Amino acid sequence: MFLSCQQMNDLEQEFGSSFYLLDVHKLRNNFNKIENAFRNRYQQLIIGYSYKTNYLPYLCKEMAKLGAYAEVVSRLEYDLALKIGMNPSKIIFNGPLKTYDDIETALNGESILNIDSLYEIDYIKKYCLKYPYKNVKVGIRVNFDISNGEKSDLQEGYEISRFGICISNGDFDYAVKTLKEMETIKIVGLHGHFSTRNRKVETYQNITFGLCELAKQYIEDSVEYIDIGGGFYGELPSSFQLQTPSFDDYAEAVCHVMNTQFENKSSKPYLIIEPGISMVANAFHFISKVIDAKRIQEQYFVLVDGSVHNIKPTMHKRNLPMQIVKQNMEATQTVAYNIVGYTCMEKDYLASNVEGELPVKGDYIIFENVGAYTIVFNPPFIKERPSIVAADENSFFIVRKKESLKEFFNEDLYVF
Ligand SMILES: Cc1ncc(COP(=O)(O)O)c(C=O)c1O
Repeated sequence: MFLSCQQMNDLEQEFGSSFYLLDVHKLRNNFNKIENAFRNRYQQLIIGYSYKTNYLPYLCKEMAKLGAYAEVVSRLEYDLALKIGMNPSKIIFNGPLKTYDDIETALNGESILNIDSLYEIDYIKKYCLKYPYKNVKVGIRVNFDISNGEKSDLQEGYEISRFGICISNGDFDYAVKTLKEMETIKIVGLHGHFSTRNRKVETYQNITFGLCELAKQYIEDSVEYIDIGGGFYGELPSSFQLQTPSFDDYAEAVCHVMNTQFENKSSKPYLIIEPGISMVANAFHFISKVIDAKRIQEQYFVLVDGSVHNIKPTMHKRNLPMQIVKQNMEATQTVAYNIVGYTCMEKDYLASNVEGELPVKGDYIIFENVGAYTIVFNPPFIKERPSIVAADENSFFIVRKKESLKEFFNEDLYVF
């Protein structure tokens, strides 16, 4: 999205000098591209938007309007989905931590419930005893080896994943057997999200194949869905210089497996995907005003009224793509400079070693690709949380106000 200096000045007048900008058009575009890639190859598709990636209510509602289900991993997210008007049957409840009350709520609402550990089976049994005439549908998140005999590709280099119910030690067998003992329970789905470093197409092929084989072996008569989770690459900025698979590449591999595995089944199970990063990362910008530029010894530091917490809560070292909107067209010196934030922490670098014309006081810096795992992690640290503005069809409107002292130190929570 291109913003002129005049537009930036107007936006600052209305929303303050640092804020997030949600590009609604881009968001819709991402959804449509993902949906087209998969649905053109496999009709029975459900897209569950992964709330934790960015649960801005306005964004979640926009996702719902496009037809996405809500993929949630806590009661807080579940209740948010209800609050924005989701039908509970369109909520996918995953995650390792669920109380009995969570499970009762999800089952009463006929949500898609995927259990992650054996303790949840006790809650499901308790539910069945409480509601003996109700048919209960559950899914199981499974844990199996996706390495294909090679080095583990899991994020952070973990050898094995901690999620789901293990196939190799017999836990999965036990879970299926125990659930099937209750007459009113049907196991209707298998879930297999794995967060990998390389987000390779072959990994998705293996996951889909593994889940389909298990479904045919254990729940052939009752299977309604195969849920492969999220973790796909979205469209990356060219500055990342990474050759990554497209949505079509993922869809081709996954749907081919689904189509061949269920070739002879008259009613095909749904394929569920749960994209997060690939849906929202590039739909958010963070705009921050330059307060000053100074030189210390041989280095230049550009101070903005934002912080690394706003754009990279994980503090990774890679510079995000950015645009500079200059107040004044006069050329400044070309140097290598760092962009630093308002906190008192030495490590508050929004970008390091940027080569180019030195931004000066009054310029704006637009950091791109900040939609994933930012506002959900963004602590109110030292300064109030900035506003979030949505841009849609050339109009700009607030979707989260800037926090005030009153909200920051909520008097219902804090004792003064
Ligand atoms: C169960 C589940 N589904 C979906 C996602 C979304 O993954 P991504 O944001 O990488 O698409 C995650 C992320 O960790 C997850 O744990």
